[in-house]
Amino acid sequence: MKAARVHAWGEAPRIEQVPDPAGGAGLSLVRMHAATVGHIDRSVWSGSFLRRPTLPYVPGVEAAGVVVRSSVFQPGERVWLRGAGLGIARDGTWRELVEAPDHALGALPSGVSFALGSAFFSPCTSAWVALHEVGHVHPGERVLVTGATGAVGSITLQLARAAGAQAVAVVFDDAQAGRLPPGTERIPASELRADAPLLIDTVGGAALPLALRGVAPGGRAVLVGYAGGTQAQLDLPELLQRDVALLPLNMLRREAAGRAAAPRLLQMLERGELQLAVTTFPLEEAARALEWIAMRGHAGRAVLTA
Ligand SMILES: NC(=O)c1ccc[n+]([C@@H]2O[C@H](COP(=O)([O-])OP(=O)(O)OC[C@H]3O[C@@H](n4cnc5c(N)ncnc54)[C@H](OP(=O)(O)O)[C@@H]3O)[C@@H](O)[C@H]2O)c1
Repeated sequence: MKAARVHAWGEAPRIEQVPDPAGGAGLSLVRMHAATVGHIDRSVWSGSFLRRPTLPYVPGVEAAGVVVRSSVFQPGERVWLRGAGLGIARDGTWRELVEAPDHALGALPSGVSFALGSAFFSPCTSAWVALHEVGHVHPGERVLVTGATGAVGSITLQLARAAGAQAVAVVFDDAQAGRLPPGTERIPASELRADAPLLIDTVGGAALPLALRGVAPGGRAVLVGYAGGTQAQLDLPELLQRDVALLPLNMLRREAAGRAAAPRLLQMLERGELQLAVTTFPLEEAARALEWIAMRGHAGRAVLTA
């Protein structure tokens, strides 16, 4: 069986023949059709993640495929996989045959492609939980979203609109503004006024203090990511005087909420009510996909195909 395996932190994964998984109680075996390459995979691969797998390891926290054997799904059923330590505490999904704890699997509707089924969980459930469970979005509210050209940001905009909110993309340069879908309401970060009750920030870094200026006194700001930098300098007196609640999102801790929202989000994807761009790479090009997702201006999710 072919797999992409990492032998040293930050080193390009090697394509290798590895033994077929041994199987065991509580474990399902899935033939991988698509496996996502996301920012969390990059963090684990770089060695900077809080938890480190034992080297060498197979990365990949998410995938979609067809069941080979399982005690919870029938052979031949289409499934998505995510969590249960995949790609972090145990070998992950960048391999032809994926062994995963039964509870990592979920049913993939027939109208959702394997590529989308492998890529949807992180951006869609993160956006959902950020908006509804952390940010407590209300219909009619103005919601600022940074990183709206990215996977989480674009889904956040769409879900905010679906919740009846007025979703506004905060843009940091003309190139970013030009890559938003036609009709997207947008505002340059330099023109923000403190009038939005809710901010969802997926960029972090220097973008966070700029975007916080758009939050109304007493408002909420949900920090989702740090695609634009891991350090931010905040004006604490300003934050206190404007009484803005800065709320972190941690989807590893909120995995259950994400899984609970997954069926409804898959249904929206199936009906075309949610759009998520995916770019596919063959498994052999896992290293290129890892580089691609770190590039500014890439559109959507990277997915490996077997
Ligand atoms: N907290 C959690 O549990 C959780 C869950 C999921 C994701 N995340 C994090 O959320 C972040 C976004 O994920 P994603 O999948 O949406 O990433 P993505 O698809 O790569 O999108 C990144 C977005 O950030 C923008 N960006 C990057 N650097 C920037 C900068 N210096 N200034 C302004 N904008 C910048 C990009 O704009 P361009 O298009 O112009 O490059 C793009 O819109 C990542 O840090 C990820 O790790 C966290």
